[in-house]
Amino acid sequence: MSASMLFTPFQVGALTLPNRIIMAPMTRSRAQRPGNVPTPSTAIYYAQRATAGLIISEGSQISAQAVGYIDTPGIHSAEQVAGWKLVTEAVHAAGGRIFLQLWHVGAISHPYFHNGALPVAPSAVKPTATAFTGNGMEEVPTPRALDTHEVKAIVEDFRQAAKNAQAAGFDGVEVHGANGFLIDQFLQSGTNLRTDEYGGSLENRARFALEVVQAAVDVFGADRVGYKMSPSANLGGISDADPLATFSYLTGQLERFGLAYLHVMEALPGHFMAPKESKGPIAPALRKIFTGPFILNGGYTKEVAERALSLHEANLISFGVPFIANPDLVARYRTDTPLSQADPSTFYGGTDKGYVDYPSSE
Ligand SMILES: Cc1cc2nc3c(=O)[nH]c(=O)nc-3n(C[C@H](O)[C@H](O)[C@H](O)COP(=O)(O)O)c2cc1C
Repeated sequence: MSASMLFTPFQVGALTLPNRIIMAPMTRSRAQRPGNVPTPSTAIYYAQRATAGLIISEGSQISAQAVGYIDTPGIHSAEQVAGWKLVTEAVHAAGGRIFLQLWHVGAISHPYFHNGALPVAPSAVKPTATAFTGNGMEEVPTPRALDTHEVKAIVEDFRQAAKNAQAAGFDGVEVHGANGFLIDQFLQSGTNLRTDEYGGSLENRARFALEVVQAAVDVFGADRVGYKMSPSANLGGISDADPLATFSYLTGQLERFGLAYLHVMEALPGHFMAPKESKGPIAPALRKIFTGPFILNGGYTKEVAERALSLHEANLISFGVPFIANPDLVARYRTDTPLSQADPSTFYGGTDKGYVDYPSSE
């Protein structure tokens, strides 16, 4: 096993990454209110982490309808694009690369964010989730099922958001198909009870995901579009009758685009995102189907990552929590410097404390 594999360059679509260490997308809930605009602190935060092979931004809502968490940034207004421009300029000036994660929460939301209206979803299936609103933690209600023409309009919102990401200077976009949000709600059989062209057969359930990917590819080109999925997670109570078949089919369809990468979150046992009842592992089957760059995520340490790379389980590994408290994670892994521990009380929301004040080791 080569101990240096994490630090070798790798070609991801249009980009040559200097190492295999990806910064996983992480919501930090520090956008400016009102307007959900990324701030100058956000630019500092990402620029501090620019030695990552690739940064994937926190989920960013593609429309006003797409929001489900307080103080999360959007990519649908001119102010938001201007805010993100500061971020991409800072990351590029620091020598880094950054994709924007395109996000629609679907049912995982609350009327608080929609002037009292219900959140939207493929079908009126109540998630098991709470929403953090301006009034604290609140129960997520049963959503309203989208009409067919509304589904098509959301695909166009994704297209416009990708255009906005391009205008903001991002190197590409990641389609957020993971964690029980809108795209996942369409894909998985437990949340999709539709009888139109977006429901029923596996082909129909995957249609929304693939139309969104096509829209992003139309804007950026396939070599600047990635896709994130979490085939064995059950966030928001999401479920599928046959996850292996569902995610294998979707992966086979994604393979046809020649995407920059496939990003699979399949948490290692004991991880906080691992399901109570294991549905996995599914990633090894997907790895055989998808021939492009393959990112694994979910509880990896340097040692476990090195092992996964040497066994060809993945080409790249993404790290979430380790990047919060270690802006120089790449250097620390390279020099075997002990990691700082992140404070979970400042993961979401608040000030620059726990955001841009974690020091580098040198
Ligand atoms: C604070 C926090 C926020 C997160 N926000 C997002 C997000 O916006 N989009 C996403 O796809 N995953 C999100 N995740 C999941 C991470 O991308 C990653 O899948 C997870 O943390 C597991 O990787 P790790 O064990 O290396 O942290 C978040 C995780 C954390 C801890």
